[in-house]
Amino acid sequence: MDIIEKIKKLKKEKNAIILAHYYQRADVQDIADHVGDSFYLAQVGKKSDADIIVFCGVRFMAESAKILSPEKTVLFPCYTEAPCCMEYMASPEEILQYKAAHPDVKVVTYVNSSSAVKTVSDVCCTSSSVENIIDNLDTEKILFVPDKNLASYVQEQIPHKKIIPWDGCCNIHDAVRPSDIERALEKNGRDLVIAAHPECRKDVRDMAHYTGSTSGILTYINESSSERFLVVTEKGISHQLKKDNPNKEFFFLPMLCRAMKKIFPETILESLETMKGEVVLDEETIKEAGKALNNMLLFSKKRGE
Ligand code: 13P
Ligand code: SF4
Repeated sequence: MDIIEKIKKLKKEKNAIILAHYYQRADVQDIADHVGDSFYLAQVGKKSDADIIVFCGVRFMAESAKILSPEKTVLFPCYTEAPCCMEYMASPEEILQYKAAHPDVKVVTYVNSSSAVKTVSDVCCTSSSVENIIDNLDTEKILFVPDKNLASYVQEQIPHKKIIPWDGCCNIHDAVRPSDIERALEKNGRDLVIAAHPECRKDVRDMAHYTGSTSGILTYINESSSERFLVVTEKGISHQLKKDNPNKEFFFLPMLCRAMKKIFPETILESLETMKGEVVLDEETIKEAGKALNNMLLFSKKRGE
C-alpha cells in the first residue's frame, strides 16, 4: 500500500480529517480533506465531527484548532519547531501593561500570534475576517496586535475607528519593496495584474490592483477575466491557483515561509499511526484563548447579516 492509501485507511479507522493551509507543500495540500485560509480552517475544524484533526500549517494554527475544539485530538505532524514569526512579536505581559494604562482600548489580536497572547486579547481575527470584526466591535479605539501592516490596511478600510498598531510584522511579506514589484513588472510585462496579501507594507499594497487574504486572492483571480498575474504572497498558493486556473499565467516573488514547509506525507502518516505530534495546552490557556477565538467566529459576520 502506498503512503496515500495508508493515510486514507487510517483516517477512516480513526475518524480523522486533514486540514491544510494554502502555503503547505503541494503533496500535503493534495492529501488534505480541506485546504483553505486560516479563517476557513478554524471554522472547518470547529464544525467537524471528526475525533482527530491533523493540522498542516504553522504552530498557531494547530493550537487554535485545539483551543476551538478541546474535545478533539489535534495532531501537528511537524517534529521540528514551526512557528509563525509573529508568535514571538508580542508578549502577554506587554499587552496587559498596555491595557492597564489604556482601559478604553479593546485588544484585537491577529490569529498569527502565540496562544499566550490570545489569552489576554478581547477578540482574534484573520486577514479575511478582520474588517467585519473591527466594524462589529462596540469600541472606537483598538490596539491591533501584532501585525502593523495589517493594522494599517484595516485603518484604511475602517477610517471611523482608531487602530493603534503593535510593532510586529511577517518577515516574509514585510520584506517586499516597491522596487521588487517594479523589477517583476519590468521583466515579465507591465500588463500583470497585481494581487497582494495585506501583510505587505502600504507602499507595496498601493501598487496592487487587489489586496486580500489568501482565499481573497484566490477568489479575485478565479473571477478575473485577466490572464496574467503577479501574486505577492507566499509561493505555496501557486498550487491552488494553477489547479483552479490552468490557462492563466502566474508570477511570484521569492517569498518562502520555511515554517510552512515542515510537514510531509510521511510525517502525516507517522503522526496518524503513532499519535506523535499531539497538541497539548493547559486548561487555562484553552479557556482564556478560547474566548478570543470564539469571539472571532461570533463577530466575523457582516453587520446586519
Ligand atoms: P490567511 O489568513 O490569508 O490564510 O493568511 C495566513 C498567513 O499566515 C499569511 O501569511
Ligand atoms: Fe507567519 Fe508570514 Fe509564514 Fe504567514 S507567511 S505563517 S505570517 S511567517
